[in-house]
Amino acid sequence: MKKTNGRSSSNGRSSSNGHATSKSSSSSNGRSNGSASSRTSSKKSSSSSSREGLEKVMKNSLKDIYYAEKQLVRALNKMSKAAESEELKNAFLNHRQETEEQVTQLEEAFEILGMRAAGKKCPAMDGLVEEGAEAIEEFEKGPARDAALIVSAQKVEHYEIAAYGSLRAFAETLGYADCAKIFDRILEQESNADEILNQAAQTINQMAAEEDMAEMEA
Ligand SMILES: [Fe+2]
Ligand SMILES: [Fe+2]
Repeated sequence: MKKTNGRSSSNGRSSSNGHATSKSSSSSNGRSNGSASSRTSSKKSSSSSSREGLEKVMKNSLKDIYYAEKQLVRALNKMSKAAESEELKNAFLNHRQETEEQVTQLEEAFEILGMRAAGKKCPAMDGLVEEGAEAIEEFEKGPARDAALIVSAQKVEHYEIAAYGSLRAFAETLGYADCAKIFDRILEQESNADEILNQAAQTINQMAAEEDMAEMEA
């Protein structure tokens, strides 16, 4: 466990999380956002088939994240029950509430795009959710399990940050300003959730380390 929660992990201080704000997403699509509007004129002259391709990528990504968010509503509920720290329980519960709202916001995006709201199975998110379930099985309730839950949750948040950074860039490039706003709002929530987990990890990692020391001395 100590290795999992070491400095190189996502919940450590030296992680990339500090940089993972919604406005400075490290994904390549996130970076391209700033210049998206300036490229609007040139994209109009591009072939319709390439625009259709990008639309398809965006729509597939939307279905993927819609499926993922629905899985996460259930997973965050389980994680809040499995956590010992009140701070962490509340973080999971608050983000579950946000996640439920995100599902509704994504349904608005589907509507704007003239699509029926439908998810597409996302094996990556299934795997991340499974990792969280393994953490619950592997550790008794306590600081070490809490630390493992934070790792799992932060992996999920980083997946979401990448997904929404890309979705926002696609929507901006394709001229779907209202969708871009929705994705931007959600991206902000995901970044905040990640930061809250960073803060919780500072106390919980310390508690887990002290617990290990106490066991060794006993
Ligand atoms: Fe989410
Ligand atoms: Fe999230």
